[in-house]
Amino acid sequence: MSEHLIWMDLDTGVDDTAALCCAASLENRGLITIAGASAVCGNTTREHAFANTRNVLGMLGKEHIPVYPGAEKPLLAELHTAAHVHGENGLGNVVLPESPAPAESIMAWDALYRCAVEAEGRLELILTGPHTNAAIAFKKYPDLKKYLKRILIMGGAEVGGNITPAAEFNIYADPEAAEVVFKSGVHVVMCGLDVTEKGILYPEEIREIEQGETVGCRLFRDTTQHCRAWYKSMGIGGLHIHDVNPVLYTVYPELYTAEEAGVFVETRGYITRGKTVSDRDTDVKFGVKNATVVLDVDRVRFKDLFIELLQETIK
Ligand code: RIB
Ligand code: CA
Repeated sequence: MSEHLIWMDLDTGVDDTAALCCAASLENRGLITIAGASAVCGNTTREHAFANTRNVLGMLGKEHIPVYPGAEKPLLAELHTAAHVHGENGLGNVVLPESPAPAESIMAWDALYRCAVEAEGRLELILTGPHTNAAIAFKKYPDLKKYLKRILIMGGAEVGGNITPAAEFNIYADPEAAEVVFKSGVHVVMCGLDVTEKGILYPEEIREIEQGETVGCRLFRDTTQHCRAWYKSMGIGGLHIHDVNPVLYTVYPELYTAEEAGVFVETRGYITRGKTVSDRDTDVKFGVKNATVVLDVDRVRFKDLFIELLQETIK
């Protein structure tokens, strides 16, 4: 049995797809086992996220991994997707072959809880979308916290934001859900914008990936076209692959610099709603260090590993 048993909850999404490719290769290396996956609304609708997750796993030869449907809307907030970045279908409008696996109908929170109980505390939960599914699971099953080893997220930021000046998309999309996760009692590893924007891929690195003939390289080449045009229009000279970070951190934390801190979510502020507030630099601490705030990455080792993992996916 591998050292890491993971569950991936995604709003699949272009960089969620890259994260799935990395996870598939890490599983093939024997370093992780993917126990299950679930889909949530966020970058795209739940319907697209569910289909995309199933189809990407199918293309990677991982159709045996069960994928469960989750929330179609945030707990309280209105649903706003990010079609301007990820395309209407979440994958830059690229249509993938349908997964041969029968579609699961059990809801994400029920399946996650069952898996966590069976794993007896070994399960690591990776969230690369809004936290709605996880929050529903914690509310429905108050003892879930006993069964999760840790939660690793792409989300938040110690400094700044992308969807507003103060908030990162995944947290802003459902701040009430993120608040439940940070208050759950399970330790959170927060790969926020502070680190995910540092792991940028430059054009020559993108070209290297595009030359690969594996499923991962082809998926990357095709699904990133739409968002690369958006990044260019924003004056960003490369591509951020945010969601890859919590997956790589799980196995290779030595690539990263991180600090323990208390982190909670602003749910009320009218210009700061969705901000992750961390107490690293203040005099008055929160009194609890519920999170590992990931702040920096060795970019060269990160992109080398990312390219290797895409090149290791099946043909
Ligand atoms: O904030 C970065 C966004 O891009 C998030 O939605 C993240 O999950 C990625 O898809
Ligand atoms: Ca995502």
